[in-house]
Amino acid sequence: MANQTRVLSCIQPTGEMHLGNYLGALRAWVEGQHRCDAFHGVVDLHALTVTEEPGVVGEATLRTAAMLFAVGLDPEIATVFAQSHVPEHSQLGWIMQCQISFGELSRMTQFKDKSTKREGQFVAAGLFTYPALQAADILLYDTNEVPVGDDQRQHIEITRDAAIRFNHRFGETLVIPEAVTPAAGARVMSLQDPTSKMSKSDDSDAGCVYLTDDPKDVLKKFKRAVTDSDTGLDAVRFDRDEKPGVANLLEINAAVTGRTPAAVAAEYEQYGRLKVDTGEAVVATLDPIRTRYFELLDDPGELARLLAVGAEKAREVASATVERVHRAIGMLPA
Ligand code: TYM
Repeated sequence: MANQTRVLSCIQPTGEMHLGNYLGALRAWVEGQHRCDAFHGVVDLHALTVTEEPGVVGEATLRTAAMLFAVGLDPEIATVFAQSHVPEHSQLGWIMQCQISFGELSRMTQFKDKSTKREGQFVAAGLFTYPALQAADILLYDTNEVPVGDDQRQHIEITRDAAIRFNHRFGETLVIPEAVTPAAGARVMSLQDPTSKMSKSDDSDAGCVYLTDDPKDVLKKFKRAVTDSDTGLDAVRFDRDEKPGVANLLEINAAVTGRTPAAVAAEYEQYGRLKVDTGEAVVATLDPIRTRYFELLDDPGELARLLAVGAEKAREVASATVERVHRAIGMLPA
């Protein structure tokens, strides 16, 4: 393991997981586990930024873990854990809050989006300091690569800046990570509003394809996907600015069939056929995942056991990092 690339990436247990999560991140995690030393967390502490009632987060954490195994993470190979089972995340999270400035956090577009969406509601301070905890998630594992969707790039940038700042202040201690995004599927857009990303908190379910959706619902969502009124001969072409709806379909199709969006475009003249074929290709990808997910959910005891094994492996790495960080700063040994 010594010289193997270390990969870490995490997902929040909030809402149902969707095609954007799968194409933007999870697929790369599954592929990466064979090539790298992989750590994947279900980040329940992050979910607390929007949790206001009891009895929800734990259940969602288990379901999210089931989905990670259903998409193909192998507990024998990858380390899959719940963030709160590894207390070092909270420990390093505070230290990272002290390496990131108020100004840097104020520039995070995700905070701006999320706090605007919650206007008039309770906006937790944790929503603002969230990137510091995310930096801790990454830096705890001496991570080289962070496979994420496009929307997380800014958070990986701030993690790098914080790590560089820490090393500058306290001496070479933390590994500087890098974001890795997929060629197709890094930013899957809503099927109803192709100018906004597919998201768990979408206004309409019709624009979001959930990994647990019934095949007939998936097909229906693709058939109803918003495109445009162009009927010209070259209506099907890959142009994100001029034709965002069509570009989104082409990119999804490309991601699940292993081609480029331009190559997919070359095969179609009409939107209707493209919608149907893309829906069918997505169903073929998601069908086995959905079946496996429900099988795994039947045995919550086994899922909990797998997470306990993951947490133990994660703690080995994480506790060594916290110790190293404390030593670098020169904190009084306990
Ligand atoms: P989260 O839980 O929102 O999403 C999990 C992963 O899915 C990707 N993703 C998408 N990719 C393409 N198109 C979309 N429409 C789409 N929607 C979501 C995200 O980019 C992400 O990779 N802050 C993170 C969780 C996190 C984390 C970390 C990630 C916490 N600590 C450490 C990496 C490393 C988040 O909220 O992701």
